Amino acid sequence: MGTVFEGKVAIVTGAGRGIGREEALLLASEGASVVVNDLGEAAQVVVNEILEAGGTAVANTDDISSWDGAELLINQAVQTYGGLDVVINNAGILRDRMSFNMSEEDWDSVMAVHLKGHFSVARHAAAYWKQRSKTTGEPVGAAIVNTASESGLYGNAGQVNYAAAKAAIASLTIVMARECERMGVRVNAIAPVARTRLTEAIAGDYMLPDESGFDRFSPDNVAAVTCWLASDLAQGISGQVIKVQGGQIQLLEGWRPLVEITDDKTWTLDSVAARREELFPSSADGAVPPFFFGPPPADRERYPQMDMG
Ligand SMILES: NC(=O)c1ccc[n+]([C@@H]2O[C@H](COP(=O)([O-])OP(=O)(O)OC[C@H]3O[C@@H](n4cnc5c(N)ncnc54)[C@H](O)[C@@H]3O)[C@@H](O)[C@H]2O)c1
Repeated sequence: MGTVFEGKVAIVTGAGRGIGREEALLLASEGASVVVNDLGEAAQVVVNEILEAGGTAVANTDDISSWDGAELLINQAVQTYGGLDVVINNAGILRDRMSFNMSEEDWDSVMAVHLKGHFSVARHAAAYWKQRSKTTGEPVGAAIVNTASESGLYGNAGQVNYAAAKAAIASLTIVMARECERMGVRVNAIAPVARTRLTEAIAGDYMLPDESGFDRFSPDNVAAVTCWLASDLAQGISGQVIKVQGGQIQLLEGWRPLVEITDDKTWTLDSVAARREELFPSSADGAVPPFFFGPPPADRERYPQMDMG
């Protein structure tokens, strides 16, 4: 047992399996009192594991895609353990379809669990921390870690609902980091890659362990990075999005100006067209280079494996 989270109270949403389970286990093994949130039996199973290992945890089965469910979750942490220091927003689902085949239900359910779910939990936690900092006059020293995805940051075909929600989660991370800085709350996000129930069906053999002895896609590779961001060891770090996959960590950067052209009068269709080459230089064969599209070349091989059905 370590002591990094000694005396701290943490919530992990969707912690009944996959990445969230590993995060809850690590937090508890470092001394945190953990509220393990998931739907149904899964949460209690992880709580039992934590208790058997000598840790402190309680289950919560509220649906985080509901505003009231998220508030109940925050209240349970505060009432059970007397406070709240860490929120890891992790719960998620997939309803992959190409945009032209997607149903309203597929769109709404993914938006609800990811985007509304992340915001609802973060919002009620931030309201609690705002009140605490007002009462004590001190910064609260708390942290939120959200879960984005490269799918949203680079735009993965077949996941328009999920990608839009995950990109929005990166955006809300930056906004909330700005808004919560003064009360001493850091807000960051991870973009993980791991073998879980979510990815098993689409990744095929790609994520299975190889002979190297290092299981690169095991979800426990992700937990240490998330928990580091959530801990006082990451003091001063906020508004960041970090990819973690196996032994690799990447600090990601969001939208930024790439090329700029200016004029000193109103643009016309002709004047924009006349400057096209400056914005999108053609290659020798006349094609526009796809430098603005998709993940870095080294990561591309993973994406064509998605089921585009
Ligand atoms: N596995 C990857 O490679 C990968 C890649 C990018 C992002 N992510 C993200 O990581 C997070 C964890 O995913 P995972 O891969 O561990 O999947 P997972 O399916 O193993 O775990 C997700 C958990 O969330 C729970 N959940 C779903 N809806 C919920 C709700 N409304 N309320 C409470 N709990 C709910 C599920 O029951 C499940 O236990 C997700 O946000 C996912 O989008 C995963």
